Amino acid sequence: MSLTLDSSLFVLMLAACAAISGCSGPPEKSAIVEDVDWRRYNGDWGGAKYSALNQINRTNVQELELVWRFRVDDFVEGRNTAIQFNPLMVNGVLYLVTVGQKIVAMKPDTAKKIWEFDPYEESGATGKTRAIVHWEDGNDERLFYGVANKYLCIDAKTGVLVESFGDQGRLDLTQNLDHDGIVRRFDSRGPAVIYNDLLIIGGSVGEGPGQANPGHIRAFDVRTGERKWIFHTVPHPGEYGYDTWSPESYKYVGGANAWGGITLDEERGMVFMGTGSATYDHWGGNRIGDNLFANCVLALDAETGERIWHYQTVHHDLWDYDLPTPPTLITLTKDGREIDAVAQPSKMGHLFVLDRETGEPIFGVEERPVPPSEIPGEVAAPTQPFPIKPVAYTDQDFTLDDVTDLSPESRAYVLEQLKDFKLGPIFTPPGFEKLVMSPQFNGGSEWPGAAFDPADNTLYINSSNEAEWISMREAKMEDELAMPELGERIYQAICSNCHGLDSGGIINGVEFPALRTVKERLSREEVMKIITEGRGQMPSWASFLELEREAILAFLFDDRHDEMIETENVQFTWTGDIPYLSTGHHDFHDQDGYPINKRPWGQLHSIDMNSGDFNWSVPLGTYAELEAQGLPPTGTFNIGGPVVTAGGLVFIGATLDERFRAFDKESGEELWYYQMDGSGYATPSTFMYQGRQYVVIAGGGGSIHQTPSSDSYYCFALPE
Ligand code: HEC
Repeated sequence: MSLTLDSSLFVLMLAACAAISGCSGPPEKSAIVEDVDWRRYNGDWGGAKYSALNQINRTNVQELELVWRFRVDDFVEGRNTAIQFNPLMVNGVLYLVTVGQKIVAMKPDTAKKIWEFDPYEESGATGKTRAIVHWEDGNDERLFYGVANKYLCIDAKTGVLVESFGDQGRLDLTQNLDHDGIVRRFDSRGPAVIYNDLLIIGGSVGEGPGQANPGHIRAFDVRTGERKWIFHTVPHPGEYGYDTWSPESYKYVGGANAWGGITLDEERGMVFMGTGSATYDHWGGNRIGDNLFANCVLALDAETGERIWHYQTVHHDLWDYDLPTPPTLITLTKDGREIDAVAQPSKMGHLFVLDRETGEPIFGVEERPVPPSEIPGEVAAPTQPFPIKPVAYTDQDFTLDDVTDLSPESRAYVLEQLKDFKLGPIFTPPGFEKLVMSPQFNGGSEWPGAAFDPADNTLYINSSNEAEWISMREAKMEDELAMPELGERIYQAICSNCHGLDSGGIINGVEFPALRTVKERLSREEVMKIITEGRGQMPSWASFLELEREAILAFLFDDRHDEMIETENVQFTWTGDIPYLSTGHHDFHDQDGYPINKRPWGQLHSIDMNSGDFNWSVPLGTYAELEAQGLPPTGTFNIGGPVVTAGGLVFIGATLDERFRAFDKESGEELWYYQMDGSGYATPSTFMYQGRQYVVIAGGGGSIHQTPSSDSYYCFALPE
C-alpha cells in the first residue's frame, strides 16, 4: 500500500515515525509506513518539490551511496541528447523516461524492469519528456505524456496504449485548437494536471514568423480525449484582452503558450500557468499593445477554463522572456495572517509573489520606465513591472563594472570586444547595434522552477548569471541569391530557432542537434528525409518548395553554386511580413570560454516567503580547473530543479560540472556531492520504498555549453 504526498501532515507523522528506530505505529498501519510515493511531477500538483521524508538528513547525508545506476538503452554516442525527466514512484513502481522517450516501469530498489513502452516503435527518434501524469480510478491506472504532437495514454499495469483514448491511445494536439492557420507544432513536455477527470494541458508551439500558432490551454476528458474546454491565450474578437493586440494579431501570432506546464490547487479547483512571449519574439510591430495573455501568470477555473485572474510580468515582450515554469503554490504569513499565494520565477530573475485567489502582489510591484525601441514600426512598452520584494535573484543591467575580473587577460579581452556594443538596463529593446542582454533569454530561471518548504515557508531557487548578446537586422531578402545563401536565409529564419546559429542550439534548456556538423553524420538523402517528414520532436517542413529544401541542403553541405535564384520564385517570402529579424541569441564568453560577467555565474538561493528577504545565496557549481588554481567555486550556468526535504536538505544537480549535490537548507553549506558522468539537467525525486528513502536523478548531460551527453539515472540511499 502507498499514499500520496498530498496529505502531507499525515505523511510527516509517518515519516518522522519511520525515521526514529523503535517507533511502532498501530500494527495494521505498519505497511503504510513502508512506502511514500513521489506521485506527481515535482512531488505534488502545486510543484513544491518538497518531501516530508527525513530518513536521509543533514547528520547522515555524507553516508549516501549509489544503490543502482540505470543506463538507458537508446542513447547514441555523439548525439546531442539530454534527459530532463522527473521520475515518478507510484504504488511501488518507479517510472523513468529514456532519451527516445520510452517509459520504463521498474522496481524502485533494484531498477529491475517490469515493462517498457516505446512511442516511436524503434525508429530511433528522440525527444524530451519532463513529466508524466498518473491517474487511477479503482483498478484502472493510467499514465499520460506528450510525444511530439501527440498526447499518449498508457495502461500503467501493462505498458500498452489505452485504445479508447484519442485515436488508439494517441490524442493529436494540433487538432481542435480554434486556429485557422496551419498548426505545425503543439508538443507538451512539461507537467499536465488532472482535475475531476479533466486532463489540462499546455505545450510548445511553432513560433517562427509565418508558421506560428497560439498556445491555447485545453482540458480533455481523461477517458476519451474529448476536448472539454479551451482558453484562448491570444484572445479572439470580443474576448477580454483582445484590445491589447493589433486587430488581426490573433490570426497570425503564435506563442503565449504554457510550455512550462501547469500547477493545480485541487481544493479551490484552480489551475495556474506561466505563459511565454508572443511571436515574433523580437519585433512586435504587428502586435501593438501589451499582448495579453502572453508572459502572464494565469489562474483559470479548472472545471470550466474561465479566467479568474491574470498577472502580466512583461508587457509586449521583445526579448523572449517567457515565463518558463508554472508558479509554485506556497503559503506565507504576513502581518499575522496566513495567505495562500503563488510564487512565479522568471527568466528576468524576478519572483512574482501573488495572492492565490486574487492575483494581487503580496509585497508590491512597481511599474518602472524602460527605454524605447529604435526599430521602425516597433512600439515598446513604456514601463515594465518590477517586484519590490524579493529583489531580483540574478544579475541585471549589465555595465562595464560588471565585466569579468577572472584574470586581467579575460577582463581586457572582454573590454576590447565590448567596444562594438551597446549596454543598457534590463528591458532595453534589441536594436541594430549589438546589445548585451543580461539576464539572457535562458534565464535567470528556467523550466525546473522553485522548491518550497511548507514547514517554515522558505523558497529555494537556483539561477544562472550569464550575459549573451542580440541584435536586429533587416529581413528583406536580396533579389537574387545563390542556392547556399538562400538556404542560409531560411536556416537563420526558421531552423536556428531550435538548432541555434553555430554550435547547436540550447533553447530553454532543450538541446537540439548542431546542424553545422550534420554533414559529418548524415547523408544528403537522410537529411532531406528528416526535413520533409520530420522526426520525433522535429516538425515536418513538407510545405517548403523542393527548391527551398534543396537550398537548405546546399547550405548545410557547403555546396558551391554560382547559379543565382530569383527570390521571387521562392515561396519563402513571408519575411516581408516581419521587416526586422534578430540575428539570434549569441553566447558571449571570454577568450577561454568563461562568461563575460563577474562571478558567481550560478547560484542557489533561500528566500523567506513571510518577509520576502533572502536567508542566503551560495554559488552553485564549479569549474574544476579554476578550483585547481585556488579559486573558490564560481558557480556555473545551471538548469535543473531543487528538492527540499524535512531532513533539512536541498538536493540539486543542474550544474555544468556533472555533480549532484546536497546543501544544508538552514545554512546553504554544501554537505555532499556525487560526481556523475553527465550533468543532472533535471529535477531529482525522493520517495520511500519498503522503509528505505531513495533519491533519484537523471544525469543525462547534453550539450549545454558543450557538456557531454550521457545515458544514466542514478539512485542513492543510506547503507542498509
Ligand atoms: C521546433 C524545433 C525545430 C525546428 C524549428 C527545426 N528542427 Fe530540426 N530537429 C529538431 C529536433 C528536436 C531534432 C531531433 C530529432 C530526433 O532526435 O529525432 C531535430 C533534428 C534535425 C535533423 C537531424 C540531425 C541529427 O543529427 O540527427 C536535421 C537534419 C534537422 N533537424 C534539420 C532541420 C532543418 C533544416 C530545419 C529548418 C528548416 C529544422 N531542422 C528546424 C527540432 C527542430
